Formats: sequence, C-alpha cells, structure tokens
Amino acid sequence: MIPQSFIQDLLNRVDIVDVVGRYVQLKKGGANYMGLCPFHNEKSPSFTVSPTKQFYHCFGCGAHGTAIGFLIEYSGLGFVEAVKDLAQNVGMTVPDQDRLPPAQRAEVQAKSLALSDAMTQACDFYRQQLRGAQHAVAYLKGRGLTGEIAARFAMGYAPDGWDSLRQVFPNYDAPQLVEAGLLIEKGDDDGGPRKRYDRFRDRIMFPIRNTKGQVIGFGGRVLDGGEPKYLNSPETPLFQKGSELYGLFEARQAIREAGYALVTEGYMDVVALAQLGFPQAVATLGTACTPTHVQKLLRQTDQVIFSFDGDAAGRRAARRALDACLPHASDNKTLKFLFLPPEHDPDSYVREMGADAFEQQIRDAMPLSQFLLKEVTADTDLKTSEGRAKAQFDAKPMLQAMPPSALRLQIVRSLAQMTQTTPAEIEALFELAQPVARTKIAPPRTKRTPPMGLERQIIRLLVVHPALASELDQAAIDAIISLSPDNSAMLQQLIDTCRALGPQANFAALAQQLKMGNGDFDALIAEVAAEPESEIATSRLELAGAIRQTKMQLLKAEMDALAASGLGTEEARGRYRELFQQQEQLRRQAEVENVTR
Ligand code: CTP
Ligand code: MN
Repeated sequence: MIPQSFIQDLLNRVDIVDVVGRYVQLKKGGANYMGLCPFHNEKSPSFTVSPTKQFYHCFGCGAHGTAIGFLIEYSGLGFVEAVKDLAQNVGMTVPDQDRLPPAQRAEVQAKSLALSDAMTQACDFYRQQLRGAQHAVAYLKGRGLTGEIAARFAMGYAPDGWDSLRQVFPNYDAPQLVEAGLLIEKGDDDGGPRKRYDRFRDRIMFPIRNTKGQVIGFGGRVLDGGEPKYLNSPETPLFQKGSELYGLFEARQAIREAGYALVTEGYMDVVALAQLGFPQAVATLGTACTPTHVQKLLRQTDQVIFSFDGDAAGRRAARRALDACLPHASDNKTLKFLFLPPEHDPDSYVREMGADAFEQQIRDAMPLSQFLLKEVTADTDLKTSEGRAKAQFDAKPMLQAMPPSALRLQIVRSLAQMTQTTPAEIEALFELAQPVARTKIAPPRTKRTPPMGLERQIIRLLVVHPALASELDQAAIDAIISLSPDNSAMLQQLIDTCRALGPQANFAALAQQLKMGNGDFDALIAEVAAEPESEIATSRLELAGAIRQTKMQLLKAEMDALAASGLGTEEARGRYRELFQQQEQLRRQAEVENVTR
C-alpha cells in the first residue's frame, strides 16, 4: 500500500510531458503538447498533454489519465511498478512496507491490525443486530434466503441510528473508525465541530472478506427502494475494490471441487447461488472486472466462467471482463462467458428457471475465442472489404494484449478466414511477432444520469480545483450534501477525497485517487481533461456563488414548507423569521461580492 501523500508528491514532482515524451513524439501547440495517440491508430494528432493539468487526453479515442495512468496503459505495468518507475526518474524512493525500519514496520502493522480489529468487531455487532431486527430478517426471508446461508456469509444488519456503533466502540472518536470506513466524519480539524456518524444505517450488511477470511469491507443494501441501493466501504488501507472479490473466501473449497469459479455481478447473486447449489460463485464489487481479479481467480482454478446480467450494463461489463482476461488468456486456462436473458441476473434466473437450467447455461458458456471474434464482427458486414478491415482493426489491440500462445494462433486463424486474409498477413499487420506495448482498449462508455444544474456545477468546480474543498466551512459542506439526496453519498465522497488531499490538491492527484473508486467520476474526469485550463481564483468565486445559491435554495424550500403548513405555531413563525433573516444576509453578501468582483 503506497500512501496517497506519496502519490501526490510524486505527481507534483514528475512532469507528464517528459514521461509521455519518452514514448510519443510531442509538439507544442498553444498551452498543450500534441502528438499521435499511442492508444489508437490515427494519422493526424488528436492526443494532447497538458503541463498545467498534468494530464493527457485523446480527443479521438477518449483515453486519458495522469503520468501514472499513462505508464500503466502504455507499458502494461502494474500500479506499484508504474509508481516505482516514475519515482526512480525523479529521485524519490517509494516507501516500501517491507523495507521500513522495524519500528515503523511495527507501526504500520499495528495500524492495519487495529483497522482489521475494528472491522471484525463491527461485523460481529451487525450479525448480532440482525437477530433482533424483524424487518431485516423478513426481508431476507422474502428474498428466499435461509438463516444458515446468512450465517455462512456472516450477513448482518446495521441499525437505523446515527451512532449505533457507539455500543461497540465506546471510544467513538478513535481515528481508525473513520479510516476503516465505518464512520463518516464531517467538519474541520481547525474550524467547526467535527461530526461523526455511522456510514451504514438501516441496511443489510454483507461483509467482504479477504482470502484469509478477515473482514476488510462491507456492502450494505437498503431494505426498501431507497438510494443508493448499495453502499460500500470506501477504499481503505485494507480494502481495494479492484483486487477483491466478494465471496472468494467462502467459495474457495467449492471452486476446487467444481473445477471452476463462477463470476457474477452482485452480492445477492453470490449468496443466493450458494444456497441454490452453486457455492463456487463470487462477485466483483460493483466495479468492472480487472486483470487483477482474473489473476486472483486463476490462482485458485484453471477455469473461470463469467456470468453477466442480460441487460445492456451486463453486456458492457462482459466486454470489460474480456479485456481484463486477455493478458491472462493462455493455453492451460479456460475463460468463458455466459449471458442470461435480458430480464435476469443469476439469482432471479435460478429461482425462476431452476438449477438445471442454470447448469445448462454454464455448460453452454461461450469460450473467450468465440466471444472475442463475435465482438469484433458484431456490427460489421464481412461481405465488404471495409467491413473485413474494420473487424481486423478492432481485433488488433485485443490480440496484441494476449500473450503469444496456441490459443492466440487459433484466433488469428479464425480471424484470417473470416476476413479473407492469411494468418501470416494478420501477424505481420498486427506486429504480433515482436513484443509490442500493450495497447489500451477504449473502455465502453457507461451511462449514468449525470447530476444537473447547481450540483453539477459544484462537482465540476471541485474536480477542476480540488484544493477549493479544503476552504469550505461546515455550513457550505452541509448545504452541498443536502442539495440532492440521491447523490449525497457521491458528493460526500468527492468532498472527502478532495479534503484528504489537502490544500495542495490538484486535478491530477484527484483523478488518480478517484480512478480507484466506483467509476462515478470517470465521465466527468474525461470531460475536464478535454477542457482548457481555468484559473483557481475564478473557480473560487464561482464556487462561492454556487454555494450561496444552494443555501438560498435550501432556505427557500424550508420557508415554502413552513408557509404551506400555515405558520400556525409560534415556533414555526420564529423559524420562518430566522430563515428570512438568513436569506437577507445571503442577499447582502451576494451584493457585496458582485460589487467587488
Ligand atoms: N452496486 C453498488 N452500488 C449500487 C448498486 C450496485 O456497489 N448503488 C454493486 C453491488 O456490488 C451489487 C452489484 O453492483 O451487488 C450488482 O448490482 P445489482 O444487480 O443492482 O444488485 P444485486 O446484487 O442483484 O442485488 P439485488 O438482487 O438485491 O437487487
Ligand atoms: Mn439481483
């Protein structure tokens, strides 16, 4: 685990223009540098590198990222290796836990032990709370789960209070409770009062365990139709979503017995499948499948079968999984993909169609080679030269991502046949003979209804200039969080992340940090990467204005509600006057600022 502060220092020290310039010929054009994009084929440059943002962005294929991201995508290095490589170039040494002096190492270990201890205690508490929570038990029963299976997965219930965990942790102020992601802390160390509260409230709890069985995170599901449906632990020193799989600890024995691991998309799928005869199931944690996930599974078994929900999101996820599999596809490993009918996920499918039907789906799953060929020929007319060329164009980065193997040769042969070429021609055309830099496969765009209006404006300002978050007072943060109940968790996450980076925070450091999250911010980061720079001073004013408008909106909403209630009590009238005065004060502030601007 490399500390975030180190990543930020590194990104401040490294110049992305130098890093990219080692591999791509760059020419100065205006404020940015331009070149031919290394991640897709192009004749005129649409790849830009911004020295002020310390970010690259391609207007052609949408590839973007920091210097670290570039090295990972371009050279296929892992995150840690990429950081080490960059650090070496600027004379920094990556703090390595194993090489720390014994005293410090002990400290790191003690800390992770304390976090892990807190997680275990919370898990025990949630389990015990489930026993007394009739509506939670009824919910699970209604979903067809037995007590036995809930116990096997150590499922629990987080009660509906703001500080229920106080019962487990009398020292509710202990720093590791926030660090473990169990509590959320609002407020400022040097300003207003710090407020802590339980992250998980009135939710069914799914503990996430590492392969040693230690609880490292939680997923919490709402009992009704509330949003978000699932709330997950944030990334912590114990928990990285991109490398953990839900249910792997519980499934290990079953995977060995079945001879394969079944990868699903949901917590509920894993638990339900385990009960209905498929205990070899695991799930990604609401993130795309990563090469690390695949590698982890292939350490347990030689065969991995991915099951995807039949909806559009499921098909996009399948494509991401295919990309994640390619670097690990080899002759002694079998990777397969199965697609359920559009209205189903594995849980609902097995319940409706039965275990035998699901078993049949597993037997019929599509091998990687077939899926790959289907992907590249799907929307293409192979009867035309253009169509055949397009199929080859799409196949190129995928075949380049595969290690040389008999399997790759088989795919090359099939592709050659389908596109009226010879295998040798394809190998030459794709430069498969020499080792090539692994090429980025542009991830399919995910669809998400973006926040609108003020909310969107605030999010954008914070992403562009994350340092501004450290200047916000508690009242401002409260106002932002209350702006949209649907997205309050996302807003809180953004503000927390920005503030954790401190007053030196910049766009690159934030983007790098958010990349490890749940993908909520991917689209926005791509958008900001593509824009011209903006001055922090301007953004500061805009943010102040947006926050003021937010406060106005909230005041107005409360005043309207009071007025609608008829203002019958003295209390209501008093509150109304109070709100009115606050509104006046905000108006005056706005005038002053408009004059000085
Ligand atoms: N997920 C998430 N956050 C959300 C929604 C989903 O992290 N707001 C993740 C969870 O890991 C979830 C998975 O995406 O398990 C799949 O989502 P979905 O299919 O909606 O949930 P199910 O697991 O099928 O749960 P349920 O059957 O209870 O709807
Ligand atoms: Mn489901």
